[in-house]
Amino acid sequence: MKILLLADIHSNWQALQAIDESFDACLFAGDLVDYATDPVPCIEWVRKNVHAAIRGNHDHAVAQRIPVKKKTGLSQLAGIARPVHWQKLSDSHLKFLGRLPVTRRVELDGKVFYLVHATPRDPFDEYLKDDSDGWRARLKGIEADYVIVGHSHTQFCVDVDGTKVINPGSVGQPRDGDPRAAYCVIEDGEVSFRRVEYDVAATVQNMSENGIDGPVLELAEHFLKTGGRMLPG
Ligand SMILES: [Fe+2]
Repeated sequence: MKILLLADIHSNWQALQAIDESFDACLFAGDLVDYATDPVPCIEWVRKNVHAAIRGNHDHAVAQRIPVKKKTGLSQLAGIARPVHWQKLSDSHLKFLGRLPVTRRVELDGKVFYLVHATPRDPFDEYLKDDSDGWRARLKGIEADYVIVGHSHTQFCVDVDGTKVINPGSVGQPRDGDPRAAYCVIEDGEVSFRRVEYDVAATVQNMSENGIDGPVLELAEHFLKTGGRMLPG
């Protein structure tokens, strides 16, 4: 069985459609929307193709119409992109995002998968990368073969006492210095991290057509082209 793991699509349809993999089941670890400006095809794709999906902090904020308060860094981008989402998304789309569960447990191929966007202790906010002691402290009481997470936008697999914690990386906004769309495949128990190039310029163009301009568009373009670097200065 071939299982496709995705996270942090962030309304980047160009990146999502570049992933050309067949799969038997797809699991999505949250943050389908926000930051980029093409949410509709991303939501439709997930609705059609994903076996189990959960809600990330950005899905929650868009669904609950929470305005962006911070005016620094990437928040400036979300500050413009979020109202674009409210214009583009129907009530049905917003309900879909708002009703995604915060955690989900599914069985596939005889293995138990536990999905949570950030960490089980703090499903929306806590950043934890490949720190096995940190994960050990947070996995108490969770019995699963695989814990699938997102949020940090970096690919990793940590083995914690027989449970594999996997972050497939971010499809639409990688932050590990590699701008290619990130994802992971588990095939017959073999975990493989993959990357694929996509048309970053087309994503930036879509942002520009949706009202993102000036220094915020420059920041977004630099961030996407460098795989997560802020503009110098
Ligand atoms: Fe994210």
